[in-house]
Amino acid sequence: MMQITIERKSLEQIETGALIVLVFEGRKEVRFGAGDLCDAGEVAGKSLELTLLHRPPGVAATRVLLAGAGKPEKFDSAELRKVVSAAVRHLKSKSVKHIALALEPEHADGEYVSAAVEGAILGDFEPDRYKTDDDSKPVEAFAVVAAGGAADLDQAVARARVLAEAQNFTRGLVNEPANRLTPSKVAEAARQMASEYQLECEVLEREQMQKLGMGALLGVAQGSAEPPALIVIRYRPAQAGSKTHLGLVGKGVTFDAGGISIKPAEGMEKMKYDMAGGAAVLGAMRAIAQLKPAIPVTAFIPCVENMPGSRAQRPGDIVTAMSGKTIEVINTDAEGRLILADALTYARQQGCTHLVDAATLTGAIVVALAHLNVGLFANDEAMRDRVLQAAKAEGERMWLMPLEEDYKEYLKSAFADLANTGGRWGGAVTAAIFLKEFAEETPWVHLDIAGMAYLEESKPFLAKGPTGVPVRTLVRLATEWKD
Ligand code: BES
Ligand code: MN
Ligand code: ZN
Repeated sequence: MMQITIERKSLEQIETGALIVLVFEGRKEVRFGAGDLCDAGEVAGKSLELTLLHRPPGVAATRVLLAGAGKPEKFDSAELRKVVSAAVRHLKSKSVKHIALALEPEHADGEYVSAAVEGAILGDFEPDRYKTDDDSKPVEAFAVVAAGGAADLDQAVARARVLAEAQNFTRGLVNEPANRLTPSKVAEAARQMASEYQLECEVLEREQMQKLGMGALLGVAQGSAEPPALIVIRYRPAQAGSKTHLGLVGKGVTFDAGGISIKPAEGMEKMKYDMAGGAAVLGAMRAIAQLKPAIPVTAFIPCVENMPGSRAQRPGDIVTAMSGKTIEVINTDAEGRLILADALTYARQQGCTHLVDAATLTGAIVVALAHLNVGLFANDEAMRDRVLQAAKAEGERMWLMPLEEDYKEYLKSAFADLANTGGRWGGAVTAAIFLKEFAEETPWVHLDIAGMAYLEESKPFLAKGPTGVPVRTLVRLATEWKD
């Protein structure tokens, strides 16, 4: 585990392998002998520009890393999180194990310190678990130098550690390949996490799902030899009596081959990420258990493998969901909404008053928003605002999408109450409209994270693979909740 400290010494006295110093666009850095580099235009302060100086004059640190932070008027805690993450990734690639960050007094408050610590922990994550040549070089120590900063920054450090470690926990799970992380194995990981953090955990098996009438979930599961699991994790605050009971629902498809409506081979390996919503909900519960919000929070994670086995459901099949609604399965690859339908119904039956789901639900959301925003859909304005505010505070970008009644037209079926697909256009919206039928009148937000759950290539500030979005938003939603 990375050692994290707040240092009150002056910059010159900080002994470390590398001291990260922010450089802003339009502001010249003259310390550490950097004046010439600035004059030559080699250090311009552009966002994520990194320049490593060895044995810089005037400081005890072995190195100084000049880290571009962009235009000062655009700088915020989200930018700091990225800059620190990129700096840490750069330094650890050079086997630097002790790192410090210099924060100006104006930025030495809880929000910025949290973002910096999160950036360090997120930047340290490597998806190299299955590489046998052990050349990973985790960062051992990270210090935030905040000489003139706010008095109590320890709490910000503690919260940031909980959040970022939960996010890395999610990233690790999402990155597990489908042969090693089956629905039963997700359930096992959930049980273990729950017992480690004193949460209640219960796993519904096929038989119980049958008794509950979860025909939509079971229909997806029947194409795989791997049995399904519906994971339920409960957090209860010490003080009962809140009128809110928040339900977090996450799509847990451990592999999405598409079923009989099978996907093309190209890129199919990425469908091991199709449980990212479920893993984010697990990660959020891990943090919630430690940060102890005032409201009860229950997680519901339907886990299945969507395979084209000989028992698989076929296009044209009609299933009956737990809510009683019948669904014509036009395309077996639209499986996420089917398992979420029953999970949402079950969450409502369990007494949740407010719901958020996270799901890698549609390719169409990636067409609409690319890889820059989560698509957010809401049937309730207050709930919408709560989630948008939490997302903004955590630097997880989300964009409001429509959820109007008349989109329901597209889901008409001649033979059942609903079809599971809505045709070519507006695929992310019709998927959300489908879910809305099962959220019914419960205030609910749907997060389509298909474009944000993983990186296809690494970025300077984040390794290739799972991102851990939207763990931080879900946690903040719960911890900031006011009835
Ligand atoms: N898991 C996919 C969505 C997805 C696509 C996630 C790309 C991540 C990246 C989902 O189950 C799916 O297959 N959706 C279909 C729906 C269609 C059949 C209506 C899609 O988006 O093509
Ligand atoms: Mn699918
Ligand atoms: Zn899927």
